[in-house]
Amino acid sequence: MTDRKPRTDDETGRPHLAELRDVETVYQPAADSRLLAEAVIDHTDLDTADQVLDVGTGSGYVAAHIREATGAQVIGSDINPEACRQAREAGVPSVRADLLAPFRTVGFDLVVCNPPYLPTPPEQEWDDPMERALSGGPDGRALIDRLLPDLPRVLAPDGRAFLLVSSLTDPDAVRETAADAGLESRVVAEESHPFERLVVLEFAPATG
Ligand SMILES: C[S@@+](CC[C@H](N)C(=O)[O-])C[C@H]1O[C@@H](n2cnc3c(N)ncnc32)[C@H](O)[C@@H]1O
Repeated sequence: MTDRKPRTDDETGRPHLAELRDVETVYQPAADSRLLAEAVIDHTDLDTADQVLDVGTGSGYVAAHIREATGAQVIGSDINPEACRQAREAGVPSVRADLLAPFRTVGFDLVVCNPPYLPTPPEQEWDDPMERALSGGPDGRALIDRLLPDLPRVLAPDGRAFLLVSSLTDPDAVRETAADAGLESRVVAEESHPFERLVVLEFAPATG
């Protein structure tokens, strides 16, 4: 017999979103996805030999746009297996991964990421795929703070990275973490919205 009732979180009694029908479990392209894709296309000179990784690829929107505009070899990774499936359907080869964990030997020419960045108090966290797509922990930088120190390891010597952040996540704090990881940074695109300002940061291994 099948239990048709959605399973609930024991403490809150709320249903897990993933258990509900007709609820999206993969982040669909939004203003942040579009700003990131456009910034990469406008500020890089990729060609068909270049290797690109889209971390947290979601639907594959950013990766597919970069590939279509530049011809570069673009792959995606995501913690959410359903996102990997959607990205593959969009023509983006994708692997399930926690950030950069499985990428050991490849020197990527470009790494892009639109991370979960919304500041979320622990008591408001929901354990479901959309929460993991949106929540950046209490200061919004939980995933960013794990990603940046590992980034130089997977970049080619002249590789670069583009990261979408928000005024809600304190871009200056993000840039300080990047500097501690040996990365130079600059702002390449910004867009204001009613409750936040979206910012695209570019990182490159520090030369000095
Ligand atoms: C804001 S969404 C961005 C999706 C897509 N890149 C876009 O711009 O439309 C963040 C994505 O990061 C993924 N994600 C969250 N934690 C992750 C982790 N530890 N490793 C890899 N991906 C992760 C989520 O599943 C989600 O697809």
